[in-house]
Amino acid sequence: MTPPRAGYEASYSRSAANWDPHIAHFTTFGERLVELADPRPGERVLDVGAGRGACLFPAAERVGPQGRVHGVDLAEGMVECLAADIAERGVRNATAGRMDAQTLTVPDASYDLVTSAFTLFILPDPAAAAAGFLRALRPGGRCAVSVPDGPLRPAGLHDIEALCHSYARRLNGGAAPVGMPDFELDPAALLAEAGFTGVEATEEVREFVFPSVDAWWEWTWTVNVRAFYERLPPPLLEELRREAFALLTPLVTDKGLPAVAGARYATAVRPAAPGLRRRM
Ligand SMILES: C[S@@+](CC[C@H](N)C(=O)[O-])C[C@H]1O[C@@H](n2cnc3c(N)ncnc32)[C@H](O)[C@@H]1O
Repeated sequence: MTPPRAGYEASYSRSAANWDPHIAHFTTFGERLVELADPRPGERVLDVGAGRGACLFPAAERVGPQGRVHGVDLAEGMVECLAADIAERGVRNATAGRMDAQTLTVPDASYDLVTSAFTLFILPDPAAAAAGFLRALRPGGRCAVSVPDGPLRPAGLHDIEALCHSYARRLNGGAAPVGMPDFELDPAALLAEAGFTGVEATEEVREFVFPSVDAWWEWTWTVNVRAFYERLPPPLLEELRREAFALLTPLVTDKGLPAVAGARYATAVRPAAPGLRRRM
């Protein structure tokens, strides 16, 4: 078993309280994943890497009082915030718990639908997670997953990503960066390889507007890049921040700082039987 990628659990725990500020990026993509997953009244849904409930809340609304949604996440801080959100919103058909996506401890065939938004790409062993999704579903149950097509692009540019990579190489003595998420992950291929059938892939790009460059910087502290920022010595982090601001400040319009982000989605079905493939 591959352990969770070092640093992510703690950094996601720290980002949980100020999750996704200014642009509701995760809410937008999570709601879209739920639309594609199409949960039906009365269904049992498992949301893996639930975060602050981008999928959990819209799924809970769709399954209604006879259904239920269980959101699991590795980061303790995230689970605590999500449980508080559920209580505060008075959502009675949703629960939150701590679990590693790569070693799901739910009974076999206990869910009708598994959703997982923007989580597989940060796992060291996404195939183990996909195998767990298959096992957790009843025969004929559905799975819907998404991954980002790359880091969010402020002003539509890849420059900030390149800037972070250059700092990662400096941190790593000039070698290629390690421990970065896998933005190349093909979720449709992953599900097919795990033994799912009826796999369908969709790609979409969305536009967002940050009120300012400061707002964009604050937002980046809530995504996976935070784990990288936290590894940089403070003077290097400050240098990176200044370079990023110098690049982006001239690109602010009267509306704010535009940004583009995309997602790859895949939906699939657990074959009726037999279907479970043995992992070597
Ligand atoms: C980019 S966030 C997405 C959260 C949520 N699905 C959404 O769309 O807003 C990734 C989430 O995966 C969680 N995570 C990271 N590694 C995990 C693991 N091994 N098992 C379960 N959750 C994990 C993080 O704590 C974080 O909440």
